[in-house]
Amino acid sequence: MTKTVYVGMSADLIHPGHLNIINNAVKYGEVIVGVLTDEAIASYKRLPYMNFEQRKLVVEGLRGVTKVVAQESLDYVPNLEKIKPNFVVHGDDWKTGIQSETRQRVIDTLAKWGGQLIEIPYTDGISSTALIKALKEIGTTPEIRQNRLRRLLSAKKSVRMMEAHNGLTGLIVENAKITKNNTTVEFDGMWLSSLTESTVRGRPDIEAVDFSSRMTTLNDILEVTTKPIIFDGDTGGKNVENFVFMVKTMERLGVSAVIIEDKVGLKQNSLFGTSVQQTQATPEEFARKIRAGKKAQVGHAFMVIARIESLIAGAGVADAILRAKTYIEAGADGIMIHSAKKDPKEIFDFCDAYKKLEKVVPLVVVPSSFNSVYEKDLAERGVNIVIYANQLLRGAYPAMMRVANTILENERALECDDTIMPIKEILTLIPNAEA
Ligand code: SPV
Ligand code: MG
Repeated sequence: MTKTVYVGMSADLIHPGHLNIINNAVKYGEVIVGVLTDEAIASYKRLPYMNFEQRKLVVEGLRGVTKVVAQESLDYVPNLEKIKPNFVVHGDDWKTGIQSETRQRVIDTLAKWGGQLIEIPYTDGISSTALIKALKEIGTTPEIRQNRLRRLLSAKKSVRMMEAHNGLTGLIVENAKITKNNTTVEFDGMWLSSLTESTVRGRPDIEAVDFSSRMTTLNDILEVTTKPIIFDGDTGGKNVENFVFMVKTMERLGVSAVIIEDKVGLKQNSLFGTSVQQTQATPEEFARKIRAGKKAQVGHAFMVIARIESLIAGAGVADAILRAKTYIEAGADGIMIHSAKKDPKEIFDFCDAYKKLEKVVPLVVVPSSFNSVYEKDLAERGVNIVIYANQLLRGAYPAMMRVANTILENERALECDDTIMPIKEILTLIPNAEA
């Protein structure tokens, strides 16, 4: 009887190392490849470039592959139990690090029916990590970037965005990465905050930075990053017509979503809460804006997210829920609920009531005030996107003030040397473009 061989892979960027594994696997029998789903990959590292269907198609086309199945977790066991292969073939690079536990479970499971793990020496000189770095340097296209937010939303329980207000902060959000519990943790994308962009331009957050200036910042960020972007569209402009232009521009540039808030009159930052006049549009008036925006977009990927200011204006959870219903009916692709309270209770109350609505869309929160809540607790309440809206700027400003004051105090710069980046490092922080 023909023996079966199981090979698990992400198969995002197929390289000679993958072919070497398959060529070796063929020697042992019929090769079944388990391609990891987007969900399985996103559970421990960044989303793959190609979606599952594309990756499956590529692997089906590889010589020696008999069948391709979905592997829905990093763990091989569910597929092994189903297929009961005689062999599993894998590169020998998983003996240490994140995959070592997975490897042991493969060995233990195969032992149940006398199966065997075959390990192939790692192919030197080529790796997915190096290819990913090269791809990042090439950049991305507006379409790929734009669609990435929807892909993240379907692959991850909760998506993590961080504010960026210029090229440098864009680079920080793009590249910040830590390893924790054997998984890679990073930001999924960027929030183009009106508060931080106004602040770096020395203006209050009252829609006083004109759209062209905001486009300049957006362009700086687009130039040096590949991750998806959510644009803070403030009120979406005074009139419906202004919002139509905003949607068209954002969509064309490859922005994934715009969030507009249901306020009218002089826009004040929401974190002032009820200490300033915060006037909401009527639900019908705002629904008209959403409808016009949705009608203006050309493709299907771009998202218009409606931001409800009822908790900011002191109108309560019931009003917010009523608005959520109206905005979703008008075509909103997401709802953002905001609160300026330290206590997350009203946000939680909203989440609980929101879940019960007949039709829901992805839910967004900005935990600037209720910052004690962990992402996983928000996700459990049904939150799909968490935005860290201003923390990079709030970190930078006090550091700059300290340096300024230290120089004033000492009438020279030596004393601040320990707290600032060495000249050598600042010169090479941004590498020269290669000719
Ligand atoms: C921003 O970051 O500009 C926002 C969020 O709109 S908040 O400042 O909380 O209103
Ligand atoms: Mg804003």
